[in-house]
Amino acid sequence: MSFAADLQTLWHLITPRSRGGSHSERIETFYRGQAGGYDDFRRRLLHGRERLFQALPPAAGEVWVDLGAGTGANLECLGPAISQLRKVYLVDISPSLLHVARGRVADRAWTNVEIIEGDAATFRPEAPVDVVTCAYSLTMIPNWFEVVDQAQRMLRPGGLFGVVDFFVSRKYPSPGNTRHGWFTRHFWPCWFGYDDVFLNPDHLPYLHQRFEPVICEQRAGKIPYLPLLRAPYYCFVGRKSSTPNLE
Ligand SMILES: C[S@@+](CC[C@H](N)C(=O)[O-])C[C@H]1O[C@@H](n2cnc3c(N)ncnc32)[C@H](O)[C@@H]1O
Repeated sequence: MSFAADLQTLWHLITPRSRGGSHSERIETFYRGQAGGYDDFRRRLLHGRERLFQALPPAAGEVWVDLGAGTGANLECLGPAISQLRKVYLVDISPSLLHVARGRVADRAWTNVEIIEGDAATFRPEAPVDVVTCAYSLTMIPNWFEVVDQAQRMLRPGGLFGVVDFFVSRKYPSPGNTRHGWFTRHFWPCWFGYDDVFLNPDHLPYLHQRFEPVICEQRAGKIPYLPLLRAPYYCFVGRKSSTPNLE
């Protein structure tokens, strides 16, 4: 952990940035200057990723698609088991973060990993896949529901969709779900919205509608340098129904 790298990352998080251009241009403007320090800072901010991959290890011979994969850091959660997967697709819209991912894949000599620069909402592999994941990417994608739909389309029946992300609850969530108070429901969307990270009370209800839940955990995690704050996040694994999809 380097304080100088943290300062650079914090600078990019708090300084105003380009509001114009396309979604991909805004994302790239945001990440270009912080790609080098991304992994170290996000390890302390993006909680629950290890938990997601413990609950969801793609098995040997399976195909895994990581949508909004960034630097490919999530591959490390699987360790050497990566080499036993038939194929891994890392899909992301930011060339700077994918540059780091390419370095990682080359260093580890993972020949089964393909890096795709593109939009998660339109990526479609040539054949149905076993596992799809979104780690802290849905909140950065304005048309996140299209990504959820796309994940469902690309999975084989019985395949798993894993999501970990920041969220706030609905004012009246369905029974069994965390209910956030007024402050939490208003403060965190404002805080993250500054960096175009859009916390949404509809993520979890929509995921429950589209997939059969396997796990759904709702927690709160630390924010670097702000010891008193805890940001709410969820970890969801859902199964695509085995009933034929008529879409
Ligand atoms: C907070 S980062 C998370 C990266 C990675 N999943 C992780 O766990 O470290 C969000 C990622 O979503 C990507 N992203 C945003 N919009 C996207 C889109 N429409 N299609 C693909 N990736 C997108 C960003 O480039 C960024 O890499």
